[in-house]
Parts: sequence; structure tokens; C-alpha cells
Amino acid sequence: MKQLQWGVLGVARIALKAVIPAIQQAANGRLLAIASRTPGNATEAAQRLGIPRAYGSYEALLADPDVEAVYIPLPNAMHREWTLRCAEAGKHVLCEKPLALTAADAGEMIAACRRHGVVLMEAFMYRYHPRTLRVAELAAQGPLGDVRLVRASFTFRVSSPENIRLKPELGGGSLYDVGCYGVNVSRMLLGEPTTAFAFGQIGASGVDVVLGAVLRFEGDRLAMIDCGLALSRREEVEVVGDGGRLVVPSAFLPGEANAEIHMVQGQNHTVLTIPGVDQYQVMVEQFAEVVRAGAPMLLPPEDAVANLRVIEALLRSLRSGRAEEVGRPQG
Ligand SMILES: NC(=O)c1ccc[n+]([C@@H]2O[C@H](COP(=O)([O-])OP(=O)(O)OC[C@H]3O[C@@H](n4cnc5c(N)ncnc54)[C@H](OP(=O)(O)O)[C@@H]3O)[C@@H](O)[C@H]2O)c1
Repeated sequence: MKQLQWGVLGVARIALKAVIPAIQQAANGRLLAIASRTPGNATEAAQRLGIPRAYGSYEALLADPDVEAVYIPLPNAMHREWTLRCAEAGKHVLCEKPLALTAADAGEMIAACRRHGVVLMEAFMYRYHPRTLRVAELAAQGPLGDVRLVRASFTFRVSSPENIRLKPELGGGSLYDVGCYGVNVSRMLLGEPTTAFAFGQIGASGVDVVLGAVLRFEGDRLAMIDCGLALSRREEVEVVGDGGRLVVPSAFLPGEANAEIHMVQGQNHTVLTIPGVDQYQVMVEQFAEVVRAGAPMLLPPEDAVANLRVIEALLRSLRSGRAEEVGRPQG
């Protein structure tokens, strides 16, 4: 398979730390270009990381005819605009989570990419880890009995007031940043919720810095989600049935070490060990297979629309102090 030629918009931390190395390791990808609003930053990153081309604006990268796919690790509020601009330029798009700030924006991005014949995928990397797939299988297959509760946590502490996560105008807030994982894993395990409720703490900059949420699903199944930008680091998922439960430590960022699933059934405690992978590399390799070979998508972008519908209901609940209905897809 001919290698997919990638470009990256912005010298973002997540790009430098995880996704650029993943593309460079990928069997079917090549990192061709990086762009920054500050030309010197693009040049510096390109030299340091061995990226052949550096551009001093995002527009210049989109004008490079050799760039086939663009990875967008920009602040959340910029995902919509740059996905639309990539689509118009005929570039396939791997966009960071959350795909957009609203379900309507995500729908518009999907329609634009379809119109221009390019692939759009949300970079929810943990969904590509074989451990996540195994958790979904175990929840569906019966060792836990009837799965009635999912508990998902993702918190950490942001110290700099300059961090994009604390800026309302850039789409900051703990729910968009890390609560989106809890919503995503709850939907993966329980389907689409009907009702959402949230309490939260709004920080000095005006974004939610701690949030606790309850989602109700068909048959009174529940998800309890917490997320935060002002708490110590923890990320864990618990899947609870009437016959047992799973605990998934480091559920979203397991690193490349072997990943564990703890299964508890009565007095029995079993640890399942899943061989470690670079989940970012699995994601970018699957993206290239979708582009090159038309392989089916593990996580189509419509999933992001459904995730954002829940996030929007939670944000409404945070404002209203009441439980809110989760909107249903149109048509
Ligand atoms: N999947 C994951 O594991 C994961 C992990 C962390 C973050 N993320 C997502 O990745 C995205 C970026 O997060 P990050 O922590 O890497 O962000 P970051 O380090 O702050 O980088 C954001 C980049 O966006 C560009 N940018 C353009 N306009 C900007 C503005 N007005 N203010 C600040 N930056 C601006 C900057 O690049 P230039 O100045 O070079 O143009 C900057 O380097 C977010 O959507 C986040 O949710 C995903």
C-alpha cells in the first residue's frame, strides 16, 4: 500500500508527544509537513522531528498538493473551521476529540467531507486499543450478567491559566476535554442515553473545571461520569453487571505497556492482560486503510454527533440545574 502523506496543523503538545511519532512509526504513513501560526516554530519542530516540509501558516500546508491527509490538533473551537477548509482543499481529516462543540457542527463537517469525497475521523485513540475492544466484548458476552452501570472517571490538574482547556472562547472545560471520554465509553457499553444530569464547578475563567454527571439509558441503566481539570490525575472505568464487574485502570491512556482488565465475580478476582500497543499508531494505520482500501471505520464520525448530543444535554443541565432530555437524531 502506498504510504499516506500526512500534514499536521499546529505544533500542539499532543502532536509532538504522541501522534507525530505514531505517524512516523506507521507502516502505511509518512509525515510530510507541519504548519504553525509562528513560522519559526514549524521550522524548529520540522528540524527536530525530521519532517521534510515546514509551513508558516495552515493555509500554506493545505495548498501543498502532496499532502493527502491532515491531522488537526487545534483548540476544540477551531476543529469545525479547519475541517471544512481541509475538505474544501480535498484533504482527508483526522481531527482531535471532541470533533466539534455541537452535534450540528459535527453534522456539517461530516456533510462537507462527504461532499468533497474525503474521509473524516475523530481521534478517539483509546477506542483503537485492543483492551477497549475486549472490554466491550466482555460486557456484551455475559460473564458480568446484565450490565446495568458504567462508572467512568478522567481527571487531572491544569496549572497554567494559559492552557487552552481553561479558555471558554477556545472550547475549553473539563466536559469537552476529558468528560467526552466518559460519555463515549458509556455509550459504547450501554447505547444512547435518554436523559442527562450534571452538577459542576465553574472556575475563574468561566469553564467547568469539575463536573459530575449521570446518564440514564433504556431500562434504567445508568452511567456515572466525573471529569475535572482541577483534581489529581485518575482515569478509570468500571463496568458493573448483576453477576460481576470489570475494573479498567488507566482506561484511556494505558501507554504502551501491557494493559489490564480486572474481573471480579463473587470471591474470584481475575486479571486479564492485553499486550501493549501504541494506540495512536493503531489509529493512524487504520485511518490510512480507510483512505487507501476503503476499509470499514471502527468509529464513524456519526458517533461524534451522538457523543456531542449527550455533551450538549449535560451542558444544558449544568445551566438549568435539571435533568435534560438527550436530543434524538433527525430523520
Ligand atoms: N487524543 C488525545 O490523547 C489528546 C490528548 C491531548 C489533547 N487532545 C486534543 O488535542 C487538541 C490540542 O490539545 P493540546 O493539549 O495538544 O493543545 P496545545 O498544546 O495547546 O496545542 C494547540 C495548538 O493549536 C494551535 N493554535 C491555533 N490557534 C490557537 C490559539 N488561539 N490558542 C492556542 N493554540 C492555538 C497552536 O499551534 P501553532 O501556534 O503552532 O499554530 C497550538 O500549538 C485538543 O482538541 C485536545 O482536546 C487529545
